[in-house]
Amino acid sequence: MRINPSILSADFANMTAELAKVETADMIHVDVMDSVFVPNLTFGLPVVENWRTVSKTPFDVHLMIDDPDQWAPKYAEKSEMVTFHVESASDPQRIIDRIRELGTRAGIAIKPGTPLEPYKELIHQLDQLLVMTVEPGFGGQKFMHEVLSKIRQAREIIDEENPSCYLQVDGGINSETIVLASEAGADTFVAGSAIFGAEDPEQAIHQLRVAASR
Ligand code: DX5
Ligand code: ZN
Repeated sequence: MRINPSILSADFANMTAELAKVETADMIHVDVMDSVFVPNLTFGLPVVENWRTVSKTPFDVHLMIDDPDQWAPKYAEKSEMVTFHVESASDPQRIIDRIRELGTRAGIAIKPGTPLEPYKELIHQLDQLLVMTVEPGFGGQKFMHEVLSKIRQAREIIDEENPSCYLQVDGGINSETIVLASEAGADTFVAGSAIFGAEDPEQAIHQLRVAASR
């Protein structure tokens, strides 16, 4: 069970200290938004590159952008994992190849309303499949229970095609919803507000890990 804190809920004015608080996490989840693919704007490549130099924990970059074909390889040069949305990708196969050529792990993400079926053939070569459990764009939203059946379906396909692929969920994950997502088959959990909003982020990571393994 992997726990990846989303720095979207961190204090951007104190990132060195914020990153030091979550060193027990598996990876740091880095939400890149461009105000086109989603109605919010966060940070870009120079900022991610800078933060990476002060983090002891590898980066799991989540690209919520309109042009992953152009940008995914650039983020792959600076991080350990890059996951892009298929909804805005013109050639997902080519993006996966380019990320992996750089020695970086590659993932695809799907929004709550996007079916998994058309992307089944990509799964055998993925390092991560991200099933969004909120509409991408903002932290602190409510977990969408209707996505649980898609998580179960993803688990079945991954077990058949590529058992080493991570099944990640992102959005509204807390110590209750993580149990549901884990029961449905997820093994990698992003949490922003539940970790950075907690008094003790390290303790929050521990509690989520325990809940996910229940
Ligand atoms: C939403 C982002 C998430 C977000 C999760 O678009 O992709 O990573 O930061 O935040 P919480 O855990 O607060 O829902
Ligand atoms: Zn995310």
